Amino acid sequence: MSPNEPIWIAGEEPGAGFPRLAEDLTVDVAVIGGGISGVTTALLCKQDGARVALLERGRVAGGASGFTTAKASALQQTKLAEIRRLHGDETVAAYARASSEAIEWIAATVRERAIDCAWERLPDITYAADAEQLDAVQRTAEAARAAGLPVTTNGAEAALPFAAAGAVRLDEQAQFHPVRYLRALAAAIPGEECHVFEQSAVVHVDDGSPCTITTDDGRSVTAGAVVVATNYPLLDRGLFFTRTEAVRSYLVAARVRGELPATMAISAGEPTRSIRPYSDAGGERWVLVGGEGHATGSGDAQPQRYEALERFAREQFDVIDIPHRWSTQDGSPVDRLPYAGPYTPHSRHLFVNAGHQKWGMTNATAGARVVADLIAGRTPAFAELLDPNRLTLSAAPQFAKAQLHVGAHLIGDRLTPAEASPDEVPAGEARVVRSGLGKVGAFRDDDGTLHAVSLRCTHLGCLLHWNGAERSWDCPCHGSRFDPDGTVLAGPAAEPLPRREL
Ligand SMILES: Cc1cc2nc3c(=O)[nH]c(=O)nc-3n(C[C@H](O)[C@H](O)[C@H](O)COP(=O)(O)OP(=O)(O)OC[C@H]3O[C@@H](n4cnc5c(N)ncnc54)[C@H](O)[C@@H]3O)c2cc1C
Ligand code: FES
Repeated sequence: MSPNEPIWIAGEEPGAGFPRLAEDLTVDVAVIGGGISGVTTALLCKQDGARVALLERGRVAGGASGFTTAKASALQQTKLAEIRRLHGDETVAAYARASSEAIEWIAATVRERAIDCAWERLPDITYAADAEQLDAVQRTAEAARAAGLPVTTNGAEAALPFAAAGAVRLDEQAQFHPVRYLRALAAAIPGEECHVFEQSAVVHVDDGSPCTITTDDGRSVTAGAVVVATNYPLLDRGLFFTRTEAVRSYLVAARVRGELPATMAISAGEPTRSIRPYSDAGGERWVLVGGEGHATGSGDAQPQRYEALERFAREQFDVIDIPHRWSTQDGSPVDRLPYAGPYTPHSRHLFVNAGHQKWGMTNATAGARVVADLIAGRTPAFAELLDPNRLTLSAAPQFAKAQLHVGAHLIGDRLTPAEASPDEVPAGEARVVRSGLGKVGAFRDDDGTLHAVSLRCTHLGCLLHWNGAERSWDCPCHGSRFDPDGTVLAGPAAEPLPRREL
């Protein structure tokens, strides 16, 4: 078991998987990305009668969707209050409807396809860990009511397994096993001229009539429509990188004794603590604890993040052990609404489903329905809400902040002095070292071998930072991640880092 593997993957047989794209192909719809955004979109397009090819760089559900907490909730911590503040009552009501309909769509899919994915209806609670968080809980309750959700507040905290200052509760939400769910959906795609390909990274997309996509080993797929569902949008032409922050967070799974909490829950303020119960097929009881989020590529990616979550788990539950810890990231649009629809204002054949800001079980499902409707020529219910090309002026301050942050890393980081010589890199750690070609990122593995790569992100050239928690080189600008040998772990970068000799 990899030290940082989620319980959803560690507890499952890897399965035979899907083949790599081995020859050129023509389909109606090509979908890039095998997470919940891509798999759901591909399946819906197949149901519409299209010939579909889904291309995934690694394994299906190997991205954020296999590393998630997998709560399907319309309450979503304090998201409704934030959307109401930025966009008003009508938009928050549409967002809540899109989320609720997505939950019912997943429920119907699980039922109709008899998917064994531990689907379970539970309340969801946003709680105030202390008096200072009461205001956020209150605003969330008001926004939820404005959106038409039947939330309760009186004594809502009583359902929590620990004391809280107050809470807002929404019943009949759900949680599930994301990897089993997605593998079942993906298994329904092949056949009738539809395909799923794994280990098939897309490096280039020509948006035309038809479109052509090219994989890293030079194979191509010709398609009438292409959907980019790569978590952080892969292609720069939509300028998503100017308005989307990549945010990383951490999870631990604690094996516990006694009763499991009868609710999902998340704190309304910092430090974020998200919990959900899980009973595995062998009858073991687990509580997942998540939180400790920060911008990807910041120096905050430290192993101590896990220790803070483990401490919380041990304080609140009767913990036997904590064998699973993992981390993942998601894109957060500056105006706090996801993107589902045409890639640019001029795109006719290129679509995006992304920007799910840590609520992708519902948002990606809602987005997949919008994109599939557009491709099939139907008028989607939430096209305006999720329009990737909306002009949301109310988000201007966040936009400016995001740009300042990126600018600082593009320019300022180049001035950071080199820190070490190769001999000074300890086992299990990484340093920035100076070589003839400039700065090099050097990681010494536990066997003593040095792995050296260029430190310029292959997306737009920002200087990468070492992530000690995950042993990766992470980009502070738009969240691309690379392993110590330069292989892309997360986009928008598509090309690996050049390796360097030391
Ligand atoms: C810690 C954490 C907890 C979360 N908990 C919840 C929760 O409880 N409820 C909830 O609703 N949401 C939650 N989320 C959010 C949710 O997990 C995500 O929004 C969702 O999984 C995103 O799905 P996706 O398909 O867009 O991205 P991903 O699942 O990341 O899928 C994208 C896929 O694209 C592939 N890809 C990338 N580039 C290429 C390429 N060039 N060629 C081919 N393939 C490519 C990747 O390998 C990846 O498999 C959480 C997020 C985090 C970070
Ligand atoms: S992810 Fe854009 S420069 Fe690195």
